Amino acid sequence: MSQTDSTEESPVPADERVDVSVLVIGAGAAGARTAIELAERGVDDVLVLGKRGHGDAHTTWARGGINGALGTHDPEDSWAIHAADTLNEGHFVNDPDKVETVTEQMPDRLRELDEWGMDFSRTEDGEIDQRFFGAQSFRRTAFAGDHTGESMLTALVDRAQELEIPYRENVMITKLLSDGSQIYGAAGYDMDSGDLVLINAGTVVLAAGGYAAIYNRHTSRDDENNADGPALAYEAGAELMDMEFVQFHPTGMAVDEDDPEWEPWSGRLVTEAVRGEGGRLYNSDGERFMERYSPDQMELDARDVVARAIAKEVAEGRGTDNGGVYLDLSHKDSAFIQERLPRMYERFAELGVDMAEQAVEVAPTAHYGMGGVAVDSHGETSVDGLFAIGETMAGVHGANRLGGNSLAETVAFGVVAGERIADRVDGPGELPDSIVGSIAEPHFGDLQRLADRDGEYDVTAVFTGIQNLMWEHAGILRDADSLQTGLDKLAEFRRQATDLTVGPITSDSFEHAVDIGFMLTAAEAVLRGARKRTESRGAHHRTDYPETDGDWRRNIYYEMADVGRMRSYTDSVDSPSQEVQDALDEGHELDYHQLE
Ligand code: FUM
Repeated sequence: MSQTDSTEESPVPADERVDVSVLVIGAGAAGARTAIELAERGVDDVLVLGKRGHGDAHTTWARGGINGALGTHDPEDSWAIHAADTLNEGHFVNDPDKVETVTEQMPDRLRELDEWGMDFSRTEDGEIDQRFFGAQSFRRTAFAGDHTGESMLTALVDRAQELEIPYRENVMITKLLSDGSQIYGAAGYDMDSGDLVLINAGTVVLAAGGYAAIYNRHTSRDDENNADGPALAYEAGAELMDMEFVQFHPTGMAVDEDDPEWEPWSGRLVTEAVRGEGGRLYNSDGERFMERYSPDQMELDARDVVARAIAKEVAEGRGTDNGGVYLDLSHKDSAFIQERLPRMYERFAELGVDMAEQAVEVAPTAHYGMGGVAVDSHGETSVDGLFAIGETMAGVHGANRLGGNSLAETVAFGVVAGERIADRVDGPGELPDSIVGSIAEPHFGDLQRLADRDGEYDVTAVFTGIQNLMWEHAGILRDADSLQTGLDKLAEFRRQATDLTVGPITSDSFEHAVDIGFMLTAAEAVLRGARKRTESRGAHHRTDYPETDGDWRRNIYYEMADVGRMRSYTDSVDSPSQEVQDALDEGHELDYHQLE
């Protein structure tokens, strides 16, 4: 936590101590699926912690679908082609082993979700329906209307409740207890009572989301994806990887920021399913501009391609007054839209727009961090007993993620992490007094002093200042000078973060002050990595290095060299299995014009 430098000042004891074998931080799909796997394998001494209420996590905002080669419409699809598409669109810096772990499991994971009651949309024959999603060779995205994440989390929570998995809500973890090579538990606070909570756990699973909300325009809700997961792991001694790869979803809502009814929706997701169901993009001249950028894949080319195309149209003066372009589905009838995209239809209807009659305005928005914590094939970090899965981990998506692969990753890695943990776990760990005395209690002291701080800088100003900086200096288009300016500005925010006016531990201001520490870590990694990677690849586009450079088919890793100093190095990427290489060699590709 960089907001205080005072760990030598008086330590404070915990108000509450919890002892548990496995602590799961994060109660979205990844955390829930891990806990289910553990329970099914007989590990019941597990606690799942969430920052929000039970059943409410960022997963509920995932909309358009979840990938798995079921072949409902396209029997020629296979897990290996799914893996090939994932590697292709990740521009070959994904970890092939992790890609195969996800894609090979997904047909089973989808059937299992179906058994657990997920209300998938179905074909007339009662099969799980699958739709087109960007840059995928076949219809492989299973869905529940356009509320796939919500339906999925409901099914997982119901299953977790059947298995009586303990869950605690409204607890924020602010530090992991680690000596750099082994995990011992975590420290945090109860967001309702303000009590300081010490957790002894020999295994900790971070399923705490990603870092896209370090950008001012983003699809997450407030207080989500502020980089808690990656930053907690990094401070505990784990390495980060690929942080420079941030996905800008092409279609966030573009709104009149001065209109109080619309303003809260700025940047929020307009699901890719709108384009998957035939939505067309037009500029303000009425031109279907994707014909110029991607005549074969059109609106369903990879997200990075469509996002850059929209940004270019707007920059060259062919955007709307609200800085976007038009997304039009009015050639489809109202009943179709309401059946396939009910939440989108309702949201726009509430704002006075009928999608069956009118186009909506969209522009790119930060959606997903492809990078995150470096982990092995079961999601374990270099710190023994510390796992990171779901959006918190890196490796599956490379330089650009396929829509529908994030929900897939959550359940697939929930299972493999659960398997590894169940093989090993043997009662709660021993939390040494030395760790309590040297890490936990000084940290609780820091939290109390943070709440009491009456400094010069306003929490919201620093929080949004970092978000604005990231959009301006590490956005869709990047160059060396701007990235360096971003790093210089970040150093100033780091200084301001030590002199904040905060507020009581149960206040939003306190939570955001803690978030600032997490955001600073992630922002520094993104800026440094983006400056180091002197090429363009997937979502990372350098205007001063516009080409992809084969020598850069490497991952960038970030580690803490000394307290406060980030060091980075690169390493090469492995090759896929022969089966996946064969699928790559076959050259499968989406044929957009089937949709027309
Ligand atoms: O557009 C969407 O529905 C997003 C899906 C995803 O990012 O996987």
